[in-house]
Amino acid sequence: MRTVETAAAVREEILRLRAPGRSIGFVPTMGAFHEGHLSLMRVARRECGAVVVSIFVNPTQFSPGEDYDRYPRDPARDRELAETENVDILFMPSEEEIYPRGHVTTVQVAGLTERLCGRTRPGHFRGVATVVAKLFNIVDPDTAYFGQKDAQQAVVIRKMVTDLHMHVKVRVLPIVRESDGLAMSSRNRYLGAEERQAAAVLYQALSKARAAVEAGEKDGQRIQSLMEECIAGEKLARIEYAAIVDPDALEPLQRIEGPALLAVAARVGACRLIDAAIVGRDEL
Ligand code: PAJ
Repeated sequence: MRTVETAAAVREEILRLRAPGRSIGFVPTMGAFHEGHLSLMRVARRECGAVVVSIFVNPTQFSPGEDYDRYPRDPARDRELAETENVDILFMPSEEEIYPRGHVTTVQVAGLTERLCGRTRPGHFRGVATVVAKLFNIVDPDTAYFGQKDAQQAVVIRKMVTDLHMHVKVRVLPIVRESDGLAMSSRNRYLGAEERQAAAVLYQALSKARAAVEAGEKDGQRIQSLMEECIAGEKLARIEYAAIVDPDALEPLQRIEGPALLAVAARVGACRLIDAAIVGRDEL
């Protein structure tokens, strides 16, 4: 595995890897790897001739007052894990490399980015779309791998790729969970012991909603209430939203007639948690 820090070095390595006709798989991350990240690398490894992983804690997707400064960083451990997963190139750029002095260009995926998490995290998805566009331009992957854990992010990236004619296939893979259902996340380490137990309520809410839909419930508001009541029953959790939306437009569904995305966000202690489930189709 080569660890590189500049866009020029990535391009050089990619040229070498691509030469024998290999396809390039790309997994963008912010590091502090867990099984969720590793699952994406494994599928990329299986499906592509070469695998590139980036680690960049992207400042523009954090709002003022969010956890940018204390976001977990563990480059030495990440490097070992990436090596174990047979990653070919680990790209760990500096902030200046990604955001050249005087940069002014951003990517705004209108509409989609104002819904769900976008309401409480203004600017977040502009930061995500901008950095992912930059990384796609540097790596030029054939396929890029994302987790359904960040469902809205995946929908936003898909839309950006379509709208900007980016030549990359986007795969969205299932959520890797702890044994009690909590979706793995680099931020879970912020949770105290009691909070950690309480955090499973997001998955419980999604599971109840999914069961209701599968049992034939078609009323969007009733499903939303079911999730809200479930989360309200956990005193350590403060709900931000619980929604059942169209999986492409992210608009609230009044009636469930086809595929639907269930999405929840809540705070448990100082930790903001999100989770999602898809019903009516297999992949987001
Ligand atoms: P990060 O939170 O590090 O996540 C990197 C990728 O791992 C994302 O596609 C995310 O959805 C996926 N992932 C996280 N937890 C997962 C889980 N439990 N199961 C499956 N996949 C999981 O998402 C970001 O970084 C950033 O926003 C990024 C796209 C890198 C842009 O900065």
